[in-house]
Amino acid sequence: MRRGAHRAAITPPRVSGVGYGPRVIEPGSLRATSDAYDTVAARYAQQFTDTLRDRPVERALLAAFAELVRAGGNEEVADLGCGPGHITTHLRSLGLRPFGVDASTAMIELAREANPDLRFEVGSMAALDIADGALGGLLSRSSIIHTPPRELPAVIAEFARVLTPGGHLLISCFATDDPSIPTQSFDHLVVTAYRWSPDRLAGLLRDVGVREVARVLCEPKPTDKRQFQELQLLAAKSVL
Ligand SMILES: C[S@@+](CC[C@H](N)C(=O)[O-])C[C@H]1O[C@@H](n2cnc3c(N)ncnc32)[C@H](O)[C@@H]1O
Repeated sequence: MRRGAHRAAITPPRVSGVGYGPRVIEPGSLRATSDAYDTVAARYAQQFTDTLRDRPVERALLAAFAELVRAGGNEEVADLGCGPGHITTHLRSLGLRPFGVDASTAMIELAREANPDLRFEVGSMAALDIADGALGGLLSRSSIIHTPPRELPAVIAEFARVLTPGGHLLISCFATDDPSIPTQSFDHLVVTAYRWSPDRLAGLLRDVGVREVARVLCEPKPTDKRQFQELQLLAAKSVL
């Protein structure tokens, strides 16, 4: 693992170009997350590469997301917290122009190896090296689960900053048991993780001008290790 590249990319975050938004540095929590995923990256890639195969509802939502993005005319899409890039590849198969960002250097190395023709960068979701309004779409699949609750509003604001007006985002995570509970931590094999209230998440998006389009709550299968509902939240940045 190229430790130097990893450190340089997340503290301080890279700053380049013009028009980029306020830099929010996630402190120790991001380091803990990236270090933990560096350790498990190869196993994670092996275990989850085919994960969409038995997830028809999620595939349908990704297809709807892609259709909405394509209709907006800007097919540039970021897969944030992309892991080994398996979903980034899927986004390309849906006619989008995706690239991936992840805090874990090992994940990014695996993603680049598996998809040499796609762009993957080490980076933080709280301080994206992406210009204001550059993206037609944004996917955050199970990547906000490690964001400490006090830092989630800044991450959501960063998502809104990089989306073009009318652009769409699709966020997935485990939902809290009761939507009136904003967050619940849960036992995660890799590093501390949180479930989010769909209402709380939709509210944070609304606060930064991103309106909910649809939410889907998938029930766990009886065989799933975690008996939590999984939230898929589709939203669009308001056109001013
Ligand atoms: C559970 S994995 C999900 C990976 C992939 N999106 C998937 O669906 O399989 C969470 C990923 O998000 C990344 N991640 C978590 N917090 C992040 C942050 N603040 N900035 C960038 N990446 C982050 C982790 O390094 C990890 O690769």
